[in-house]
Amino acid sequence: MARKVFPPVSAGSVAVDRFHVTRPEMNTMRITLARPDDWHLHLRDGQALRAVLPYSARQFARAVIMPNLRPPVTTVAAAGDYRRRILEALPDEARFEPLMTLYLTDDTSADEIRRAVDSGFVKAVKLYPAGATTHSDAGVTDLDRCDAALAEMERAGLPLLAHGEVTDPAIDLFDRERVFIETVLQPLLARRPGLRVVFEHITTKEAAEFVASAGENVAATITAHHLLYNRNALFAGGVRPHYYCLPVLKRETHRRALLRAATSGSRKFFLGTDSAPHARRAKETACGCAGCFTALSALELYAEAFEQAGALDRLEAFASFNGADFYRLPRNQGSLTLEKRTWTLPASLPYTDGDELTPLRAGEPISWKLLA
Ligand code: NCD
Ligand code: ZN
Repeated sequence: MARKVFPPVSAGSVAVDRFHVTRPEMNTMRITLARPDDWHLHLRDGQALRAVLPYSARQFARAVIMPNLRPPVTTVAAAGDYRRRILEALPDEARFEPLMTLYLTDDTSADEIRRAVDSGFVKAVKLYPAGATTHSDAGVTDLDRCDAALAEMERAGLPLLAHGEVTDPAIDLFDRERVFIETVLQPLLARRPGLRVVFEHITTKEAAEFVASAGENVAATITAHHLLYNRNALFAGGVRPHYYCLPVLKRETHRRALLRAATSGSRKFFLGTDSAPHARRAKETACGCAGCFTALSALELYAEAFEQAGALDRLEAFASFNGADFYRLPRNQGSLTLEKRTWTLPASLPYTDGDELTPLRAGEPISWKLLA
């Protein structure tokens, strides 16, 4: 039976395990959850890194950092250097741990995987099918070529993070995730049944069902934007480049399936924003980059989605427990609190010299606010 989270009257506090809904005054509602993690984040480098990192660090204790820099982070040495640059860019008071990833290529060796495991700071390996998305041109052309690396990952339990889309231009853009399951993921898991796989930023009912029915070694991240928007958002009154990401938003039936999966209580689904900043000029142009910048208000967006599903009591496990458990890392200490209060997101944010960043839903209202 569904548990009622919100008392109809101004009752003091309802506790559901460690999760709390409180009403400190009439008309305000707060939720407190254990400090969450972001299991899929693009931080970029240099000035861009310094511009976006504080938004993630104020919400998340840790984040899995995507390696699609130019050049890509393909070695443990490069991941170590990138990690140092992230730590140096952190605001003084921030406590934030970057969990590093390696960018899988046709040439990644089993030795590099062993070094990654031994490093202690590389927590996963990212699969970009070559050409699938932003900075994926150095990605994998054929998984058979990486089999030695995959065998070592299977042996060591190092997760493979899959950008799950085929790149065949003959396949309809909206079908590329579904076809990836049939033609890449299922054969891979048949060949390497012990490989631990996170199906990243899933966008379809088929992916949610596949993950739910797969073994314990298969999990998925889900973004806030795929929980909140369907593909109509891309064309609402005109082309909306800030809603364009890959995998692209799908139909409403898929959004609902994702929301069901995220709020199902299954431990296989967890938070991964895929926040992917691009300068406004690179988005608002004839051939705009894929990626939505959601880090500014990530938790608030997830809270809206979970509230919409009547499942705020499931937000904490999704945001703060399931990912840590899958990655075999300790759950975080500390907590943070969101208040039900409508405010307006900024129209733009500082980014790099001479360019700005437009957050998802810029200049529009959002109904939750993270308290300082
Ligand atoms: C990401 C980026 O910009 O790096 N873009 C995106 O649309 N999600 C790459 C990715 O994760 O696909
Ligand atoms: Zn991504």
